[in-house]
Amino acid sequence: MYNPELPLVELHRHLDGNIRPQTIWELAQQHNIALPVHSLDELIPLTQIQTQTADLLAFLARLDYGVSVLADTDACYRVAYENMQDAKNQGLDYVELRFSPFYMARAFKLNLQAVIEAVYAGVKAGEHDTGVKVQLIGILSRTFGLQKCQVELDALLACRDKIIALDLAGDELGFPATLFESHFKLARDAGWHISVHAGEADGPQSIWDAINLLGAERIGHGVAAIHDQPLMQYMAQHKIAIEACPTSNYHTATVTDTANHPLKIFVEQGMCVTLSTDDPAVSNIDLAHEYNVAKQTIGLSDKQLNQIQLNALDAAFLSENEKTVLR
Ligand code: HPA
Ligand code: ZN
Repeated sequence: MYNPELPLVELHRHLDGNIRPQTIWELAQQHNIALPVHSLDELIPLTQIQTQTADLLAFLARLDYGVSVLADTDACYRVAYENMQDAKNQGLDYVELRFSPFYMARAFKLNLQAVIEAVYAGVKAGEHDTGVKVQLIGILSRTFGLQKCQVELDALLACRDKIIALDLAGDELGFPATLFESHFKLARDAGWHISVHAGEADGPQSIWDAINLLGAERIGHGVAAIHDQPLMQYMAQHKIAIEACPTSNYHTATVTDTANHPLKIFVEQGMCVTLSTDDPAVSNIDLAHEYNVAKQTIGLSDKQLNQIQLNALDAAFLSENEKTVLR
């Protein structure tokens, strides 16, 4: 369990990977969208992963059900708002929610800027109603290729004040960071922070490239850093935080099981380790679950868990003043 005396902050949570099965079912009914099942009971095991999948892409395919029912911007608003209700129900004080507008818009060819605006309106209404503070991270979905990522980036830049950072997610092996230097130069010039999925499906060089070529200040997953001592040292020295998601890493076959997750070694190396859920509705977990895994399965002490909780606030894309309010 996390320490309720300390602020609970989650930095790596996909809004479009956290769509409730009930909502998927209701939106499908409302918009007459065919699903490959005939009831909510049958839908749940399709959208929620119980065990390990073959690889990252097999895992990501499970997220497709959720975005397949986003028929209009009202649906995007609803999903965004419900993410804030979930954050509140799971005890979060502050959350950075990330989403790929292209991925959310894809099934019904929605206007990308309209999707971004609906998501922003949904999380802000949720922030108002729940009291959980939120900021949005825009994602480039590299799975769909460079051109689509440029279109996605242009839409995000047109809404630049609604976004705090840019991320690169999707097929890490097929679309390495080296392809996205110009995209992330534009993002940095826009004044955004940078967090990149790296060292999840690919090796340590992918993390070096995210840092050196894209300007990543935080790394999503970063599991492969365990194979590169100088990289762990570099990340510790430069306070490049790891957004660790142990259950997701088990589900994507990034680690063989959560007991083998390098989290504890990262902590012992002095790295700025944080804990997140990644896609909580798909993994059927909450952040408390990940703190329990870190303690019971990976063997972290309460002191180390407290430090992880404080690291998350430290590594948040917030000003020092905003952090002080949360402390
Ligand atoms: N990796 C890459 N892309 C993603 C992930 C992930 O873990 N979750 C949602 N999109
Ligand atoms: Zn992720």
